Amino acid sequence: MAELPKITVKWAQTLDGRAAAADGSSQWITGPAARVDVHERRAAADAILVGTGTLLADDPSLTARTPSGELLVPAAGQPVPIVVGSRPIPAASRVLAHPALGERFPAPLRLAGADLAADLAELTALGIHSVFVEGGPGIASSLLRAGLVDELLVYIAPALLGGPRLAVGDLGIASMAGIHRLEFTRTEQLGQDLLIIATPAKKETR
Ligand SMILES: NC(=O)c1ccc[n+]([C@@H]2O[C@H](COP(=O)([O-])OP(=O)(O)OC[C@H]3O[C@@H](n4cnc5c(N)ncnc54)[C@H](OP(=O)(O)O)[C@@H]3O)[C@@H](O)[C@H]2O)c1
Repeated sequence: MAELPKITVKWAQTLDGRAAAADGSSQWITGPAARVDVHERRAAADAILVGTGTLLADDPSLTARTPSGELLVPAAGQPVPIVVGSRPIPAASRVLAHPALGERFPAPLRLAGADLAADLAELTALGIHSVFVEGGPGIASSLLRAGLVDELLVYIAPALLGGPRLAVGDLGIASMAGIHRLEFTRTEQLGQDLLIIATPAKKETR
């Protein structure tokens, strides 16, 4: 099997597992300390990936920044932006002004998403060995369903949203026999929020 980059999937959720309000807004579920933590982790990744749903809903910058908005690491060290999906990136999108874009990557990398394993395998040839996935629920669910996630970072806010916008959608699990077991490798309090880091359970404990 082709070498794949390390895939870290991150999301922010309410205590009831919602990733957005009914109108699609999700900024910000968690507080400043959690967001600082996310930006530091972005800075450590080779690339940052979102689906077109998140790109169109949130117009994210996909940069690693300080709380005051400056770049956390120089442009050359910023994670390369990757957008998965077929819809075009609107011309006014913030990601088109991403500081990592230049000679090596003139535009955000695009992946079709129909075969995520094959798409991700292409990234290692481009020197991308770690990918920080920032959503949304559609992409996160597909990566989980395909068994492509090495590490999950779940930021949990002491808040409720209810409604249909779950952090994770259908994983194709019909009954308990198919449950996707994880191991908690770290828990941390960040201001009012919790960060839980989890990895897929080793086969013998699944
Ligand atoms: N709380 C959080 O941490 C967080 C993080 C990010 C986003 N959000 C929220 O989540 C919402 C957007 O979620 P979303 O699920 O619509 O967006 P998404 O996961 O960012 O994007 C989904 C889109 O990606 C494309 N795609 C291509 N291959 C895919 C595959 N294998 N699996 C899934 N999608 C694939 C499809 O679009 P095409 O038709 O273009 O191919 C699909 O509609 C917004 O409300 C946003 O605010 C929350």
